[in-house]
This record gives sequence, structure tokens and C-alpha cells, in this order.
Amino acid sequence: LSCKEKPNRQTLGPPWNEFDMMYMNGCAVKDYGNVTFEEVANDEPIGNVKRPRAVGSANQRLSAAVHAVKNDGYTCVMLGGDHSLAIGSIQGHAAAKKDLSVVWVDAHADINTPLTSPTGNIHGQPMSYLIHELHSKIPVLPNFSWIKPCVSAKDIVYIGLRDVDPEEHHILTLLGIKGYSMTEVDRLGISKVMEETCDYIFSKVKKPIHLSYDIDALDPSISPATGTPVVGGLTYREGVYITEHICQTGMLSAVDMVEVNPKRGKTEDEISSTVNAAVDLIRGCFGRLREGNHPADYKMP
Ligand code: ARG
Ligand code: MN
Ligand code: MN
Ligand code: MN
Repeated sequence: LSCKEKPNRQTLGPPWNEFDMMYMNGCAVKDYGNVTFEEVANDEPIGNVKRPRAVGSANQRLSAAVHAVKNDGYTCVMLGGDHSLAIGSIQGHAAAKKDLSVVWVDAHADINTPLTSPTGNIHGQPMSYLIHELHSKIPVLPNFSWIKPCVSAKDIVYIGLRDVDPEEHHILTLLGIKGYSMTEVDRLGISKVMEETCDYIFSKVKKPIHLSYDIDALDPSISPATGTPVVGGLTYREGVYITEHICQTGMLSAVDMVEVNPKRGKTEDEISSTVNAAVDLIRGCFGRLREGNHPADYKMP
């Protein structure tokens, strides 16, 4: 999605849908297609890390794709897929934009190292590969050697945490990583959380934002079709508010929308509720306001 060129509105008559609205407000959408992956045979675990070769090479391709999208000047949207894709997506983003801040909206911290992971699932580990301060704790894995740490602990903010492993909690504390668990969301309210988040990430310079949004940050009553649902999550309104606030900073540079998994929905309603929430979060990222929008140059007939 891009805000590069403002399209000619003359060709678009009312009534307008929200896609038209985005277009008229200067967002041109380009679909870069799916990233294709090769099958990896005999992808045996290394320690307890599952499918390292497949996940490593898939992320290498994703990283190149994101780098290309950013070089074209677009705000990049990744539709996942699980959260292990943040490895390639943040790596590719950082290759194009030196200094990033990462806003990670999730029930989970996804910061286990391969050695602390209780499950061996790489979706619970992406942050550990990306943070400079954890580099010395990461063992060698096949197809992971291209990954270079690219974010600093001080440039990360978590929102929505409520299922953090003890080892992850130790890492977050040790590195002094900023985070708003559901307890803080309850205490402060989402508007204060977002105000503080932006004060924190913009305290020195206004860096581009990588928003990594795990749909399981929302309460499972809204987004049940996901792999690791956790009760007590963000409401739909809190979830959307985060995207509206990030959008109005003007610094949103890439978005991951991950862990949307229709196969995990038990009914059609569970699937549509999850997917619709994900769509609304992306709309919020690109300027959709709940109060309504109109074209900047609109003239009443
Ligand atoms: N902390 C657990 C793990 O490391 C769960 C992670 C869940 N992450 C996710 N992207 N669904 O395995
Ligand atoms: Mn997953
Ligand atoms: Mn996650
Ligand atoms: Mn999660």
C-alpha cells in the first residue's frame, strides 16, 4: 500500500466504498503477490527447534521481497502466516530503513531463544534473532546465517502481553524492554498506552515504525481462529484504536498481520469474525476513521 501518488478522483464517482476512500486520500494499493517457498526435505529439528531450514529459507525470501517493496517507496503489508515471518519482514524492512522502531502487539512476547523455547516453535522466537543484545545467545541454525540483528532493545514496545514464559520474562527484564501488558492496558487505558508508546519511540528521533500485529492480541471472543488463543485480550475497540493512533503519527512503514488462521476456526462465524477484525485493523492503519472520512477536495453538489 502506498501514499506516493494521488490518483485522479474524476474517474471515481460516488457512492464510494472504503477502498475508493483510501485511494482518494492518496493510498494506492499494489499487490506484490504471494512469496513462494521451496519444499525442504528432511528438515530435522536442531535441538528442539522445529523446521529450521524451511523457516530460515522462507524468511530469507520474504526479507528480499520486503526490501524491494520498501525500495519502491510503499508502506509494506505482510499477511501471515505465523509470527515467525517477522524475522524476514523486519530484516528486510531494516535493510531498506536503517533505524526502525518495532511496536509488537501480541498476547505473547515471541522472544524465546532457540535454547529457552519451551515448544521449539519458531513463531515463539522471532524477536530473539533480531535484537542486537541477544546475538551472543543465538546458536547456529541451518538457513539462519543470513540473519543479522537489526533492532535495539530500546526501540521495541510490546502491547497486550498476557502469556509470557518465565525465560522470556527474564529476557524482557534483563534488556529493559518497554511493554504494556493487559494489566497496564487495564490500569492506564489504551489512549494513555498509545500516547506513552509514541512518546517513548519518538523520544530522540522520529524513526519509521514496524507494526507487528498478532491477531491473538485481541480477545479470543473476537478473533478465535488463531493458533494460540489466550483469554483476557484487547477488545475490538482497543485493537482498532492502536492502529488509528499509529496511523496518525505518519511514521507507519510496515505492518505484519499474523496468526490469522481460518483452519483454527470452529464455525464460519469464528472465521469471519477473525478475518473481519484483521481487515479492520489494516483499515485503521491506513487512515480509516470510525467517525467517517471524506475526500480532501470534496465539494457538495
Ligand atoms: N511462548 C510460547 C512459545 O514460545 C508461545 C508462543 C506463541 N507465539 C505465536 N506467535 N503464536 O512457544
Ligand atoms: Mn503460529
Ligand atoms: Mn506472536
Ligand atoms: Mn501471540
